[in-house]
Amino acid sequence: MKIVHVASEMFPYVKTGGLADVVGALAQALAQKGHEVTVFLPGYRAVLDHPEVAPLLQRTRRLRIQMGDMFMTGDVREFTPEPNLKICLICREEFFDRRAPYGNGERDYEDNHHRFIFFCKGVVEVMRLYEIDADVVHGHDWQAGLLPLLLRSAEQRHGLNLAMHTVHTIHNIAFQGLFPMRSFYRTNLPKEFMGIDGVEYYGQASMMKAGLLFADRVTTVSPQYAKEIQTSEYGCGLDGVVQTRAEDLVGMVNGIDSAIWNPATDARLPATYSASDLAGKTACRKALLASQGFDPEFSGTVFGMVCRLTEQKGVQFVLANQAFFVREEVRLIVLGAGDAALEEQMQLLAAEHPGKVAYKGALDENLSHLVEAGSDFFLMPSLFEPCGLNQMYSQVYGTVPVVTRVGGLLDTVTDIDSDPAAGTGILVEATDEGVGKGLQRALALHGDRSAYAAVQQRGMARDFGWATATAAYEAFYAELMG
Ligand code: ADP
Ligand code: GLC
Repeated sequence: MKIVHVASEMFPYVKTGGLADVVGALAQALAQKGHEVTVFLPGYRAVLDHPEVAPLLQRTRRLRIQMGDMFMTGDVREFTPEPNLKICLICREEFFDRRAPYGNGERDYEDNHHRFIFFCKGVVEVMRLYEIDADVVHGHDWQAGLLPLLLRSAEQRHGLNLAMHTVHTIHNIAFQGLFPMRSFYRTNLPKEFMGIDGVEYYGQASMMKAGLLFADRVTTVSPQYAKEIQTSEYGCGLDGVVQTRAEDLVGMVNGIDSAIWNPATDARLPATYSASDLAGKTACRKALLASQGFDPEFSGTVFGMVCRLTEQKGVQFVLANQAFFVREEVRLIVLGAGDAALEEQMQLLAAEHPGKVAYKGALDENLSHLVEAGSDFFLMPSLFEPCGLNQMYSQVYGTVPVVTRVGGLLDTVTDIDSDPAAGTGILVEATDEGVGKGLQRALALHGDRSAYAAVQQRGMARDFGWATATAAYEAFYAELMG
């Protein structure tokens, strides 16, 4: 099949969260299975300068993109990191030569809608120039939401069939790409799409809604989340729209990239290990404790957490339970950047209890692996979680996850009390008390070393590799193509 992916992030070139991991791993897995895969990304400065990209960059072709009544120039640069996989970067310095993909810390860039309208139009233009007649064009999240409509309108204008089928994947419905309706003309789409049956969302335009309504099929990253976003509790205002697509909506759990997240081969760790020999895990634990200024021989319980520091990830529940971490014989190690107020509270907690809590407010790929490997428990008490990757990393790293009963967490972690023979983690309610109870259950489990070891072994035996997810996407594409 000829498959085009369109996304705003892809590991290892640019990453702010799990979207990058998923796009990177899925594209690679499909290419390795012999499909012809093209991934479109914005030509961010970080990608152009990336050591694995710069030497491979090939031809540049000028682009002239209509944005309303003016034309903007840009160019497309491409490289081929491996057979069957081509990456096309849609470049325009004004839009993508910035330090971060979406904003500076707290604030999103004010011109994000122009940036991603330009991006989607660039994709369509390159598909036209290069005569890519894709079997499937698969867009991810709001940044690619306008694609199905833009492809349709290009078909009408140029009489070309650029995409047989379109798919839109919701990785997180909380981010919707809303922009002022007065900028809609920049899309050059017919006015009929401006209304409530089009992109309009309470007076604004919504790129996510455009993808949801106009893609042939909609997917999300776990079956549970597919159900949840049809309810007002989790639909972030788009539940009604999602309901109208219920028949075309499917949830498929992400995989994890076993070339990167495998404790037996992980080059980022000071020691590797496997289920049959956990000596390396003990070495990682010591290295983790030492790296945070703690006694490497500490014998209590180590809790780790790695995430974007936002309410989604339940950081507030951890903060609300700070008395637990101060009181008990435990250590808490948190890695995560994000919301300024949450960062400040986390910093304060670590500063007040330097012997017990460590916090690093930065992106640190190496430390994220060490936290996964060196902790006894991994905390992920999300308010909502479309899929989540860290709970899967945790299980295969022998680190017992403490997670809430939502979304992909519910689909990928089995509770030790509900199913004692198969349990791989601790599931809790998404409240301060619920998380508090989960922490107590973790302590009790850790106190019973053989019970803990059994849970750990079951987690490590689980296979979350991309093979299952890739096969699911292949079957899904094949079904779509009839
Ligand atoms: P989300 O995409 O909602 O942020 P996921 O669980 O799907 O959540 O993926 C998060 C990814 O980002 C994981 O690979 C995680 O290790 C990584 N990550 C999050 N914060 C950091 C950080 N501060 N440093 C390094 N990696 C991080
Ligand atoms: C989003 C979600 C996360 C999911 C990731 C990849 O960022 O928040 O749950 O794992 O996308 O699909």
